[in-house]
Amino acid sequence: MKRALVTGTTGQDGSYLVELLLAKGYEVHGLKRRSSSFNTGRIEEAVRSEGHRPDRFSMHYADLADAASVTNLVRDIEPDEVYHLGAQSHVAVSFEIPEYTADITGLGTIRLLEAIRASGVPSRFYQASSSEMFGSTPPPQNEATPFHPRSPYGCAKVFGYWSTVNYREAYDIHASNGILFNHESGRRGETFVTRKITRAVARIAAGLQSELRLGNLDAVRDWGYAPEYVEAMWLMLQQDEPDDYVIATGEAHTVREFAEVAFAQVGLNWQDYVVEDPRYMRPSEVDALIGDATKAKEKLGWEPKVHFAELVKRMIEDDTTLLEHELAGRLVRVEL
Ligand code: NAP
Ligand code: GDD
Repeated sequence: MKRALVTGTTGQDGSYLVELLLAKGYEVHGLKRRSSSFNTGRIEEAVRSEGHRPDRFSMHYADLADAASVTNLVRDIEPDEVYHLGAQSHVAVSFEIPEYTADITGLGTIRLLEAIRASGVPSRFYQASSSEMFGSTPPPQNEATPFHPRSPYGCAKVFGYWSTVNYREAYDIHASNGILFNHESGRRGETFVTRKITRAVARIAAGLQSELRLGNLDAVRDWGYAPEYVEAMWLMLQQDEPDDYVIATGEAHTVREFAEVAFAQVGLNWQDYVVEDPRYMRPSEVDALIGDATKAKEKLGWEPKVHFAELVKRMIEDDTTLLEHELAGRLVRVEL
């Protein structure tokens, strides 16, 4: 039985990856940080679904700011595969807390790589790199595109990217970067733009909200479906040789288009509800991210199946169902 350690377990991608690894028969160890309230809601669903074995899943308290905590986990668990997804992942927030972002998102990667190197455990390593590293370099972006980050988050991810390449070259660690373009789902954090929109649409349709305040409507993103993107992470660690891969759909849409399609799905006109608010503009913006995932298709056999209209539809459906459950008081949080 293969053993995996996943950081960022409580996040969007972590929850889908745990689900995938359990379904593949892995023993999975997740990391959770101390919080004053339950913070494992997303993976409750993942570990309880039919056919999954919660006894092959454990959560451990640790923090990416605490080198000893992650070193101990690697030493004690001796994972075959480490998926490093933990990060301060919000671009706008990274302008407010740049040093913390550099620490967790940048140095956090070195802490984990160093834990693997120092322990001598032959773990394969996946680094959650980001299209945000391309920043202002014009699309289409692929593995050869130069980085020009536009946020403290983007700068920290560039550090994590190159640290991963360096540990591969210096210590022969099987370490790979997945350069993932934006990917979304019903489990997306509520303050990222897609989820902010779909959640608002569900609430507006139910008469609970009257407007939606957004920032830059002209930004172009390449939005894919998160469950398919975690499959690509797993595929990278199954290759004989470590490497770096862009994962994207290649399709481009603006934030405005996302809002238009989302409101149209419940029969509403986005222009009647969306208000442009400078509060959500960023000091420096990434105007357009459109990925070229040809290498992933050729070498990993990975291709996206869920495209833009279907993604928006699924997210609206998920938020509508979630709202119904919230209103009926049917959501109960438990400790994991
Ligand atoms: P997310 O939902 O924001 O999840 C981030 C995870 O990191 C959460 O589990 C969070 O824990 C954890 N974390 C934050 N600070 C930590 C700390 N100090 N110590 C330990 N854990 C900490 O992010 P996501 O969308 O799943 O993305 C997963 C990874 O892929 C991130 O590294 C992100 O930067 C990267 N990425 C995401 C995308 C995308 O479009 N989603 C694209 C490219 C790259 P809490 O739950 O306790 O907050
Ligand atoms: N969050 C947010 N909130 N973004 C808004 C809003 C708003 O109210 N209004 C407009 N936007 C614009 C942002 O300015 C940005 O151009 C775009 O919508 C997408 O913003 P986010 O959904 O916050 O995602 P992101 O592209 O900045 O970052 C995400 O994708 C990266 C990969 O490219 C995050 O998941 C990062 O962790 C990830 O690395």
